[in-house]
Amino acid sequence: MGCGLSFPKVPLSRDKVVVVTGGNTGIGYENAKWLAMMGAHVIIACRSEERALKFMKLDCASLKSTEDFISEFKAKESRLHLLILNAGISTYGLEYTEDNFESMFHVNYLSQVLLSIKLLPTMMRSGDDCRVIFISSYAHNWGEVDVETIQARQFTTENFDKMKYYGNSKLFQIEVPTLDGHLPRLYWSPYKGSTTQTNAAINPKYKGVRDVYFASCKPKTPNSKARYA
Ligand SMILES: NC(=O)c1ccc[n+]([C@@H]2O[C@H](COP(=O)([O-])OP(=O)(O)OC[C@H]3O[C@@H](n4cnc5c(N)ncnc54)[C@H](OP(=O)(O)O)[C@@H]3O)[C@@H](O)[C@H]2O)c1
Repeated sequence: MGCGLSFPKVPLSRDKVVVVTGGNTGIGYENAKWLAMMGAHVIIACRSEERALKFMKLDCASLKSTEDFISEFKAKESRLHLLILNAGISTYGLEYTEDNFESMFHVNYLSQVLLSIKLLPTMMRSGDDCRVIFISSYAHNWGEVDVETIQARQFTTENFDKMKYYGNSKLFQIEVPTLDGHLPRLYWSPYKGSTTQTNAAINPKYKGVRDVYFASCKPKTPNSKARYA
């Protein structure tokens, strides 16, 4: 497998309900594919039906779409065991969503947190090994928590510091008190990139573990900026 990245290939029950946001392509697709191959009932929450195993419409750049997804999910499914919050963007410039939030803040952080909060009651009724996994990044090291500048209103399209704001969105994810996934290297393939989140999702030894940051398939200490709360 290379680079020591792997996860146990455990049989998962067809009754295990999994949601992967942005699971139609890239790392999320690899993650969703492996969870489905191990037997789970995988729902891909994304913008387009392309490559979806089981599709449900979700646009994380819209609070309405996110609320609609939550309502539709709750109407169709009574249980949820794994919530993998993978959908993410790195923008080329300063963009705001229809709800007037800086777009990386909205897509990478706000919508994922909204999903986790609103789906948590369903997860708490679903059994004793339910996991929420946020897909953060090494880029959290570049971020900072500053509520005054959180929406980047001080920038113009020309001078927007997009890497800093991508880092901010990934740092905020680690502030959420749940299990975090973190991907190892920017140049790794989607499969290698997905191994950390798949391992965090299904490895039996992490049952009951919470508030852990993972890198390269192992628990790791994140930047101290992520641990002030
Ligand atoms: N690639 C890396 O090296 C790396 C490293 C560290 C962390 N990450 C994180 O890993 C996650 C996946 O990255 P990736 O490399 O697989 O990226 P990717 O190939 O660009 O896939 C991103 C996924 O997010 C979805 N997405 C984007 N905006 C969305 C929206 N408004 N609503 C719903 N879904 C949306 C995309 O859907 P569409 O197909 O509709 O655009 C796609 O499914 C991201 O959170 C990223 O920040 C990646």
